[in-house]
Amino acid sequence: MAKDIIKVKNLEVWFSVRRGFVESLTSKDQLYVKAVDGISFDIKEKEIFCLVGESGCGKTTTGKAILRLVEPTGGSVKYGGGGLTPAMMKDAAIRTVAKKFLSKAEAEADLAANRVDVRRISKDKMKMLRQRMQMIFQDPYESLNPKQSIYDIVAEPLVVNNLGKNEADREKRVIKALEDAGLRPPKDFMWRYPHEVSGGQRQRVGIAGALVLEPSFLVADEPVSMLDVSIRSEILKLMLDLRDKKGLTYLFITHDLGVAYVFSDRIGIMYLGKIVELGPTEEVIKGPRHPYTKALISVVPKPDPRLKTEKIILKGERPDPAHIPPGCRFHPRCPSAMEICSQKEPEPMYVSQEHWVSCWLEAGEAKK
Ligand SMILES: Nc1ncnc2c1ncn2[C@@H]1O[C@H](COP(=O)(O)OP(=O)(O)OP(=O)(O)O)[C@@H](O)[C@H]1O
Ligand code: SF4
Ligand SMILES: [Mg+2]
Repeated sequence: MAKDIIKVKNLEVWFSVRRGFVESLTSKDQLYVKAVDGISFDIKEKEIFCLVGESGCGKTTTGKAILRLVEPTGGSVKYGGGGLTPAMMKDAAIRTVAKKFLSKAEAEADLAANRVDVRRISKDKMKMLRQRMQMIFQDPYESLNPKQSIYDIVAEPLVVNNLGKNEADREKRVIKALEDAGLRPPKDFMWRYPHEVSGGQRQRVGIAGALVLEPSFLVADEPVSMLDVSIRSEILKLMLDLRDKKGLTYLFITHDLGVAYVFSDRIGIMYLGKIVELGPTEEVIKGPRHPYTKALISVVPKPDPRLKTEKIILKGERPDPAHIPPGCRFHPRCPSAMEICSQKEPEPMYVSQEHWVSCWLEAGEAKK
């Protein structure tokens, strides 16, 4: 069975809300935007795990918290399996992380599995670990510095991390990364600037920048949503090829269920900072159990008119993560809400071996 590369447990990222002077005098309670509010999942080696949900539900914050580009405020993120290099596991500071913060049994299990807790590790050591974990961003226009040549953009992670024996070695690595990202021949692209290549090629430059450190895990945050439909499938195919050739593992973030369906192995549906349903992609999309998942699926355009289902239009405003409703957080918009839904939050309940859902409609039938 494939090893877990990432294990996320009860991850929380709460941002404190800054308030005006008068407001802070009238209320002493600190308000938080609960962008990620206690989520758990794991990602197996070479798997594509997809997080799907509407804008503002916490997808990007989850991806960034896993890489510690934002500080989690609770929970743990363990990174390991085949992802750690032998040098990292020999690093005394990384080894002590497990021993210092975990019970003896947990520490032993983690060290045996070459696993370290990303949340407990110092920023300094995190820099080392991050070489194995990289992010591909949504907007190839914004994420690339227009004043840098493509060579400088792709070489930057090597420079920042002080990697590469000399300039010739760095150039060799940049050429390899550009080739792997499908920018061939690399010498035709290296000395151009971002505005001198197409949108699809710009996203390939972003991918080359992520590949240059030879990571084993990539967070791809809406990597194709800004691209033309014709280019989307090329970039998705490139990412699949890279998974097969280099054994990469992905956390793939998208609001597009259609892309998630064709691309991912398993899927987590996020609503207002929580995962409400998780399972194998095909099972979740063909047999959704959570009313929110059903609503999302009902509005995806179907190519075959015979497959058309009635659209479920959710009532109410888009929710505010600074004021999460009590009980099931989806209850004010849920077409199936019952009395218990506003009182008690449902726990994840398994509806098959790998498929769970947090919804009171499943209580009794499913296993907790
Ligand atoms: N640094 C921050 N400080 C305060 N609030 C933040 C910060 N970063 C994100 N948020 C808030 O956290 C919530 C989740 O944001 P996030 O960017 O993770 O959503 P998302 O699911 O990626 O949305 P989208 O699909 O629009 O990219 C939003 O309400 C956002 O305004
Ligand atoms: S728990 Fe209740 S409100 Fe929440 S999704 Fe299920 S039926 Fe709807
Ligand atoms: Mg986002």
